[in-house]
Amino acid sequence: MAKMLVAGNWKCNKLFNEAQLFVDALKTALQNAGDTSQKDQGCDVMIAPPSPYLAAWAQQINGAFKVGAQHCSHVEPGAHTGDFTADMLASCGVDMVILGHSERRADHAETDQHVATQLRHALDAGLRPILCCGESLECRESGAHHDWVQGQITAATADLSAADMSRVDIAYEPIWAIGTGVTASTMQAQEMHAFIRSIIGELHGDELASATRILYGGSCKPSNAAELFACPDVDGGLIGGAALDPVSFAAIVVAAQSTACPT
Ligand code: 13P
Repeated sequence: MAKMLVAGNWKCNKLFNEAQLFVDALKTALQNAGDTSQKDQGCDVMIAPPSPYLAAWAQQINGAFKVGAQHCSHVEPGAHTGDFTADMLASCGVDMVILGHSERRADHAETDQHVATQLRHALDAGLRPILCCGESLECRESGAHHDWVQGQITAATADLSAADMSRVDIAYEPIWAIGTGVTASTMQAQEMHAFIRSIIGELHGDELASATRILYGGSCKPSNAAELFACPDVDGGLIGGAALDPVSFAAIVVAAQSTACPT
């Protein structure tokens, strides 16, 4: 079983001083929620704040959690105003990067090709990417969701070696569940996660597929995290709204830890 990961994606939220205050608030909330030690209980924790905070945030966190970025550009260093590369993130102490989020695909016209290039750059920079995939409601209702997700994963990972792929996490984030309060049912999540694992198996072999971490994202919160994480192919969560509140996020982390190490 892959080590669980609970990753917070803050998106475009919080000012810098709020981000700084969050660190101690989360540590306290984790203790209050029953966290004994994330290292002992086999659960990774990552938070991705807005990019301008990353260097200072990485120093402040000092290894207590993984530091994530929400994006890296597909361009090479040079004349690209406003862009930043995976190497630049790594030089700021970033550990992980979220790639291919549906909001980036929608707001910035990022294509599967862009995502494949970003993934290559992230791996080359030594970052651990979380590759997002997921269908719209229209796509699911038309019955094309499996083909859609398969296309996204294949386009981004088909050219990766097994060694590269062993450093990639996947996040299944159905667009209809993001920020809507409507969560995928455990049956929907498990079914799609098992399908994603089978795609990885076809592309990269069964051993790698069973070791790949597949996160669920989309209105995951303290009230539904434990049942989602109990699904055999759900290896953690990519959390949006609930990651903005230290108490809610801590409860989700503890739910993952309990799943990883039932007592
Ligand atoms: P919510 O948890 O707010 O639905 O967001 C999920 C998400 O998009 C995480 O990347």
